[in-house]
Amino acid sequence: MRKLPDWVQEAGRVLAWREVVPGHGRLDVRAPALAARARPGQFAMVRAAPALRGGAVGMAPFLGRPLSFFDMDTTGGVVSFLVRVTGEGTRALAACRPGDVLVLLGPFGNGFPAANSGTLLLVAGGVGVAPFPPVARAAVSAGARVTALVGARSAPLVLGVRELRDAGAEVVVCTEDGSRGRCGMVTDVLPQLLDGFGAGPSAAFACGPPAMLAPVARLLEQAGLELHVSLEARMGCGFGVCRGCAVPAARGGYLHVCQDGPVFPARAVDLEAVARLWGAGTRAR
Ligand SMILES: Cc1cc2nc3c(=O)[nH]c(=O)nc-3n(C[C@H](O)[C@H](O)[C@H](O)COP(=O)(O)OP(=O)(O)OC[C@H]3O[C@@H](n4cnc5c(N)ncnc54)[C@H](O)[C@@H]3O)c2cc1C
Ligand code: FES
Repeated sequence: MRKLPDWVQEAGRVLAWREVVPGHGRLDVRAPALAARARPGQFAMVRAAPALRGGAVGMAPFLGRPLSFFDMDTTGGVVSFLVRVTGEGTRALAACRPGDVLVLLGPFGNGFPAANSGTLLLVAGGVGVAPFPPVARAAVSAGARVTALVGARSAPLVLGVRELRDAGAEVVVCTEDGSRGRCGMVTDVLPQLLDGFGAGPSAAFACGPPAMLAPVARLLEQAGLELHVSLEARMGCGFGVCRGCAVPAARGGYLHVCQDGPVFPARAVDLEAVARLWGAGTRAR
């Protein structure tokens, strides 16, 4: 079989933008070249391109924004993203209508390691759940059991549960105000969950605010488990040129999230320093 180039630039056609919870939406885009290449845990740089559909809005925003693959339908040539609307780039995506054109670059990043057996534990805070449905689907079809702990501030902000269940995962929800599922942050609920695991999970992956990742990594280290984390740095290029996505490495020096990650063994990154640098709150987003 002919080998496909690693990444592509593609003009994707928007199929739908649908708000799923306040301030967050699902974006479905027809982008066959990207869909054929994307693997669980990878991301694309995505930019609304009004100029490409004859609009007069110009080039803003100039840079694409990194978004994890929330779903990829290889047969239908469709990729989907779960988007938290935070600023100019994601607002432009939320304003898209069917037929609009997006510029997509990717897939980038290393993705999560394969989990083929035993029990995989996924820990997600807020929109950090975005990369996990494809991860869960791949793990379940390879023979692993998957349990996902999904945290949010309150019931209306819980994301990704249906997609994780559709992928074959067992889902435990927690909310900070107790309005859905167990009461507390993922770091409150994780110790109870680990106690109930019996032999324990064989692998664990986490994605969410850096202030969540550091204590999650400590808890899992105490449980003797290696955690892989997906980090969300600000990115200029997405493929190793601008050096804008550097994070402090645990052994000194820096790692680049786009090239070396976005998935890292938690012990490779100084997660406490990342949380301090990015000034993230402790709340699940
Ligand atoms: C590998 C990777 C995968 C990602 N996957 C997703 C995803 O699937 N869904 C999703 O909604 N977001 C994801 N993000 C985060 C997303 O890229 C940012 O939220 C987005 O770039 C913000 O762009 P903006 O122009 O809308 O906001 P900006 O105007 O750039 O910023 C608005 C506000 O958001 C904060 N912010 C910006 N970028 C980030 C960031 N990377 N992390 C935390 N806070 C940020 C800013 O400090 C500012 O306060 C991912 C990031 C990375 C690196
Ligand atoms: S985003 Fe440019 S080097 Fe990582």
